[in-house]
Amino acid sequence: MSAKIELVDLTNLPSGETFLSEREQAFFQTLQLSKRRKEWLGGRFALKTLVHAETGAPATEIEVLPQKNSGKPLLYVRGKISTLPFSITHSNGYAAAAITTDAWYIGIDLEKVTHRMDSWKKDFFHPSELVAQDDAFLTSLWTQKEAVAKLLGTGLTIGSFDVRCVEGEVQFFNRALEIYKQLGSPDITLQTPSLIDEFEFSVATGK
Ligand SMILES: CC(C)(COP(=O)(O)OP(=O)(O)OC[C@H]1O[C@@H](n2cnc3c(N)ncnc32)[C@H](O)[C@@H]1OP(=O)(O)O)[C@@H](O)C(=O)NCCC(=O)NCCS
Repeated sequence: MSAKIELVDLTNLPSGETFLSEREQAFFQTLQLSKRRKEWLGGRFALKTLVHAETGAPATEIEVLPQKNSGKPLLYVRGKISTLPFSITHSNGYAAAAITTDAWYIGIDLEKVTHRMDSWKKDFFHPSELVAQDDAFLTSLWTQKEAVAKLLGTGLTIGSFDVRCVEGEVQFFNRALEIYKQLGSPDITLQTPSLIDEFEFSVATGK
């Protein structure tokens, strides 16, 4: 695995004041929903743990701030934008973060295994991806797509079929293909390590 992963339990987080910067604290105050506040904090705590181990910077000088026109946050270390590839995810009481020092891009996604309706399956997966049908497989497939969508930095703005994960191989179409080419057509590695029982987790890296 070329990524370092940190998982945190959202019921066991230190207070934000101990690790958020002033800019982060100001943004945190704007979040209203308790679930969202915990997830936002947990993702930052997990990422700061990794970035502190990598750079030695204190947690309050590592900042993960939202960008105005994109869901993808920016990482600042000691006030400067960092090029260290990172990704954050949260699901059902957990948050995780990842960094990599031997790839250019990274995306991760964590999801609790749940049963979904057939319509969900048809909306989000191309028939070529559906080589199995059980809940764990479908949840994993979802995490694979989301991890790749985060690696691209696009989130919801691409079509569901524009990234296809067929037996671990990633295929790009339409706008996802354009963005993939803009990134320099990196070699993508998709991994699905076990992180927690009853959850599926995917890590996409590109270099
Ligand atoms: C961005 C997106 C991927 C987040 O997925 P999610 O399952 O809702 O949420 P997660 O908890 O896994 O991830 C949230 C984190 O992703 C990060 N993120 C948000 N937008 C992002 C983007 N455009 N690129 C990369 N990372 C992004 C943020 O760090 C965010 O956490 P934060 O707001 O606390 O900082 C999601 O909103 C989205 O757009 N999903 C695409 C749905 C879809 O169509 N999937 C099929 C794609 S082919």
